[in-house]
Amino acid sequence: MTTIKSDNYKSIVFFTGAGMSAESGVPTYRGRGGIWSQYKWEEYACQEAFDRDPEKVLKFHELRRQSVLACAPHVGHTVIAELEKKHPRVIVVSQNIDGMHQRAGSKQVIELHGSLWRVRCPSHGIFQDMGEKFENYKCTQCGSWLRPDITWFGDMLDQDVITEATIVIRQCDLFISIGTSGVVWPAAGFPKVAREHGAYCVEINPEPNEMSSLYNESVRETAGVVLPRLFA
Ligand code: APR
Repeated sequence: MTTIKSDNYKSIVFFTGAGMSAESGVPTYRGRGGIWSQYKWEEYACQEAFDRDPEKVLKFHELRRQSVLACAPHVGHTVIAELEKKHPRVIVVSQNIDGMHQRAGSKQVIELHGSLWRVRCPSHGIFQDMGEKFENYKCTQCGSWLRPDITWFGDMLDQDVITEATIVIRQCDLFISIGTSGVVWPAAGFPKVAREHGAYCVEINPEPNEMSSLYNESVRETAGVVLPRLFA
């Protein structure tokens, strides 16, 4: 693995998945110890589950909030946030809902799958809600259940967010993917978009997957180990 001279690139995108937060102690979704091996997403992470039993789904997300708040960003998150301060264009495009990049200090973060720290009312919009427990389960204005503002299984992604992400990925000349299994679309298509638009593409993931052949370079170590070395 060589180091990357960030000054050689005009626009850098860090494309992150659950593996980015693994060394902070936030479990990934798939594989051993993954969230979806412990909890059936059909019961906790889809609109149908919420319609059936909103309280059960909200309590599950409160557990997730508690476990994320017990974790802290690691050195890899810090490397990305520090690079943003000294480079004119560093953008994080993340599938993560945990807010770890922002806690490390990153400002330019596109959240593809929403946020664990927001809820939305079908009539009154989106509210920030940052605590271990949700401030309210129901909208104080209309009494509707407040749904976590997260992309669940079967949901459409916010088209504006996808468009924004696609534009920055097309424009970047360095694309660094970190800790994603590359199975959830449309995010899984982003490395191909970056490659087709001429970016140098690096994958950081201890395990290869079906998307690995798209990258110019793959580094088979963890985010917290690789990022400080890569940008030393
Ligand atoms: N550093 C880098 N990569 C890691 C690390 C680490 N320390 N630990 C694990 N990984 C890798 C795994 O090898 C795996 O490829 O991170 C990846 C995690 O994959 P997933 O759990 O599938 O997470 P992700 O790709 O982000 O999932 C996509 O699926 O259910 C949804 O909405 C959820 O945003 C999520 C989406």
